[in-house]
Amino acid sequence: MTAELLSLLHHLPRASAADPMRVAVIGTGYVGLVTGTCLAALGHKVACVDIDPERVATLRRGMAPFYEPGLEALMQRVTTRLSFTSDIVAAATYAEVILLAVGTPSMGGGTDLSQVTNAIAAINGALLPGAVVVIKSTVPAGTAAQVERMLREAGHPNSVASNPEFLREGTAISDFLRADRVVIGVAESHAETVLRRLYEPLTSARIPLVVTSRTNAEMIKHAANGFLAMKIAFINEVADLCERTGGDVDDVARALGLDVRIGGHFLRAGPGYGGSCFPKDTHAFAELGRQHGAPLRLIEAAMASNQARREGLGARVAGAIGRDVTGLRIAILGLAFKPNTDDMRESPALPLIRDLQAAGAVLCACDPRAVACASRIFPGLACFEDPYRACEGADAAVIVTDWEAFRLLDLGRLRSMMSGNLLVDFRNQFDPSEAAKSGLRYVSIGRPSVEPSQAAETGGAVVGVSPRRRPAAVWQERIARLPDSGSRP
Ligand code: UDX
Repeated sequence: MTAELLSLLHHLPRASAADPMRVAVIGTGYVGLVTGTCLAALGHKVACVDIDPERVATLRRGMAPFYEPGLEALMQRVTTRLSFTSDIVAAATYAEVILLAVGTPSMGGGTDLSQVTNAIAAINGALLPGAVVVIKSTVPAGTAAQVERMLREAGHPNSVASNPEFLREGTAISDFLRADRVVIGVAESHAETVLRRLYEPLTSARIPLVVTSRTNAEMIKHAANGFLAMKIAFINEVADLCERTGGDVDDVARALGLDVRIGGHFLRAGPGYGGSCFPKDTHAFAELGRQHGAPLRLIEAAMASNQARREGLGARVAGAIGRDVTGLRIAILGLAFKPNTDDMRESPALPLIRDLQAAGAVLCACDPRAVACASRIFPGLACFEDPYRACEGADAAVIVTDWEAFRLLDLGRLRSMMSGNLLVDFRNQFDPSEAAKSGLRYVSIGRPSVEPSQAAETGGAVVGVSPRRRPAAVWQERIARLPDSGSRP
């Protein structure tokens, strides 16, 4: 566990001895396991439930079934208050609060709520009188009310509340313990009292609590993810325009973000957003708008823009190479959809690898955490944990994920391992002039590309940047005009 997390825990008040609550968390995926572990760290007694007995056995050994920094260490610190079971009825019989953190995957245009309804069907005979059912899974507005009706029809008048999560993979524990806000959606005062008690250790540390209706709480989650997805799609389109006009998207984003009305977060141009949430949640939100005759045109546009961006990544690399990629060896640096996770769901690496392989390139890949996952998806793909090894003999390298390990690469060494000299950087990890000094032809996002500086030329084989898109004379001129640019916002 990092020193930062330890100090965070140390400074948070625990639920006092009289106050700990008995909590059941249904579902031990990302949201459920992080939430259950953090609630135990706050002092509550938590039973995490999963239908998969093998997963429960792994969890009981103190191991997380996925990589999340600090999670296993925290699980091991709170063992006296954190238990795991596949017995959903026993957990429901024990709990004052039941948090549903099951999957809500896309189905057609909408959301598959079967895991939510199955969990409710399993617990509805077992709930204690007064126990509050809380929906943490991301669901369309109106779901909590619908679930409450299900319970009532079965003769159980328990309250149902909404309590969306805003956890990012890779920083989920500090996102929980140092949340920007806790949102609770309730229809009556008992549920509000119970949830206020549950989150008291956070709210007493001055984390704002938003108490609102259930529909609003459900809407807040979709609107938050939709807005962030729009910000990313927006800056990516600005980046495309910067590429055509000779601008620098990092400078533009930095200045935009200094306007407090806009804010600097989620303005990093890149290969398009991925992961388990933004793609799924934007689809569900857009579908909800369609169903209610209130189209979310901006969300629809962001989705289309992001899709086009992802589909165009292979062509971008091929364009930077400037010739047929058949037989060329290309190193893919980064497989996970973002750093500090082993999650490849909707990763930009997926369409990129698929398209480059289809075009005949010979790929090898590198990721500090996602190699096992990639090997399952692309059985023939040569994968390494060491980026220098992945780049050995490569004609070109492509940075897809913004892992710190890649930002710290010694570009001179990288260049010396490669047989070509092209580095395509979809995450703008380097100062272009530094990359050029290392002998690399450097193509990044929304910034002028650079040729290797003369002094750094090592005489290795050169994979050209497309002469049509990037005439050398234009580049020399642009490079000459470049200020000391390239640092990230
Ligand atoms: C997101 C939300 O942030 C979180 O609140 C929600 O509960 C779950 O979904 P997560 O998917 O873990 O979290 O990752 P996040 O850090 O939000 O990044 C999502 C995607 O956007 C990644 O593909 C990332 O690379 C991309 N991104 C993010 C950008 O391209 N640019 C940015 O500036 C920020």
